[in-house]
Amino acid sequence: VCKCYPSMDMIRFTTSGTEATMAAIRVARAFTNRNKILKFEGCYHGHSDSLLVSSGSGLLTDGYQDSNGITEGVLKDTLVAKFGDVAGVKAILESKEVAALIMEPVPANMGLIDSSKEFLTAMRDICTETGTLLIFDEVISGFRVALGGAQEYYGITPDITTLGKIIGGGYPVGAFGGKKEIMDMIAPVGRVYHAGTLSGNPVAVRAGFEMVSYLMKNKETLYKELEKKVIYITDKIEELGKKYEVPIKINRLGSLFTIFFTDLKEVTALDHVIDSNTEHYSIYFNTLLDNGVVAPPSKYEAHFVSTEHSKEDLDKTLEVMELAFKKIGELNGK
Ligand SMILES: Cc1ncc(COP(=O)(O)O)c(C=O)c1O
Repeated sequence: VCKCYPSMDMIRFTTSGTEATMAAIRVARAFTNRNKILKFEGCYHGHSDSLLVSSGSGLLTDGYQDSNGITEGVLKDTLVAKFGDVAGVKAILESKEVAALIMEPVPANMGLIDSSKEFLTAMRDICTETGTLLIFDEVISGFRVALGGAQEYYGITPDITTLGKIIGGGYPVGAFGGKKEIMDMIAPVGRVYHAGTLSGNPVAVRAGFEMVSYLMKNKETLYKELEKKVIYITDKIEELGKKYEVPIKINRLGSLFTIFFTDLKEVTALDHVIDSNTEHYSIYFNTLLDNGVVAPPSKYEAHFVSTEHSKEDLDKTLEVMELAFKKIGELNGK
């Protein structure tokens, strides 16, 4: 993993992505001697207390953003900004009270939202200027948008990286890592405690080792092929939108994409996603499910295309999608 992520001098394994982000924040607090953290509205980083504030994914689907059961003290220490708002982030970080900015460099838990090198560069620069650690939560983007994740794709170096999902090869693994001086805060060298009965357990890590080795061996072709599949299927989905006069906007990056049922030409913010048509998404999801295709169960999630999806799988999916678009078109009186 460290070979693929040169920003990680050292790495610790956990059992889930949630544990990875939780531990990363604790280390950042110890390293900077600051209490507060900053996150973006609509980004999801697992279900530890301090990160279930203005959260994405399942919370948004259920119609709220802050979980109950979290103390006021914790809520007070989690600050929130809007993704893309450079001035807003700068204003908060200039107080020099924030230990870390934690972000999905490619937000995929409010649907897939466009990121950019310019925005990530601005986040890197502001964090450096204010002594704030930059945590890239690459639990989704890691090994997915590129072998080296979004940090390789956009060429930006975070201070701490968190990983999960793909690095377990289907087994429960998470990881966090970064510069040596930061990771040295962790026991037994330092006094930030981190443990876990099954952290880095041999079965899960073996599965992850095989997965990462496979990806490293095939990196020259695999990511290009994945992207080609996404371009193939999303181009055809756009044709379906036109054919049945169903307004959509598709965001895509690497093997990820989200279909937003909306008239908007750009979907770049959480508000755009919230305003997109939930009823249309629901018809889309249920029609696919009734016909044997499982799509993400909410408009706040991303579709993941896999190396295992064949051209036949994509064509079968498109056939079923056509049924959904036809239904939505009929609902609209087209
Ligand atoms: C970006 C991101 N970070 C963290 C997590 C939490 O990972 P886990 O579900 O393994 O606890 C998720 C889960 O979907 C995620 O998408």
